[in-house]
Amino acid sequence: MDVKEAINKRRAYRSLVPVEITEEIIEDLARCAQLFCSCFNNQPWRYVFVYERDMLERMHEALSSGNEWARAASMIIAVFSKPDLDCLIRDRKYYFFDTGMATAAIILRATELGLVAHPIAGFSPKKTRAILNIPDEMEVITLVIVGKHSDRLSPVLSEKQIAAEKQRPERLSLSEFVYRNKYRE
Ligand SMILES: Cc1cc2nc3c(=O)[nH]c(=O)nc-3n(C[C@H](O)[C@H](O)[C@H](O)COP(=O)(O)O)c2cc1C
Repeated sequence: MDVKEAINKRRAYRSLVPVEITEEIIEDLARCAQLFCSCFNNQPWRYVFVYERDMLERMHEALSSGNEWARAASMIIAVFSKPDLDCLIRDRKYYFFDTGMATAAIILRATELGLVAHPIAGFSPKKTRAILNIPDEMEVITLVIVGKHSDRLSPVLSEKQIAAEKQRPERLSLSEFVYRNKYRE
């Protein structure tokens, strides 16, 4: 699979079946983040790969309602960082950008490995920190829900989520976010 194919294949599926998570998979994904670019090579990203059954179950209490489907995760990757781990140039903070880019590399590689890697914002950072022993000063940015896509719809999905499962949610047209040479309202 080339990059373009992985970009096209990647979907935020919510119907998941279990998949075996091996040390090789974790290391493979982590190495993709490791190689990503960052401001001054600061590498601000931090990850907890949660895959032990009891820890996964404890993470269920950190999920927001509407994300019940994520209880079927075979792995949850907690993504966290803090501003002073990366460039702070006046009011420009790069830790979110760099951590996002490295996490995109993980998501695309997971796609290539035949996995679903679905980031979510619907979770409690406070509960996540408590469960995973992440220090308070760290910002938990997202949880990436990892599993294998199931053809059978998850029974906990809403109508909207079912629709998104069948068809990729619509995107802005290029003319709505691409400008040539100069920004225009
Ligand atoms: C930062 C972020 C937060 C998201 N939060 C949630 C979430 O809490 N629950 C959920 O079901 N999907 C969540 N999504 C998935 C998006 O809804 C999904 O990516 C979007 O609808 C486009 O669909 P696609 O990724 O399948 O193309 C999130 C995605 C991102 C990048």
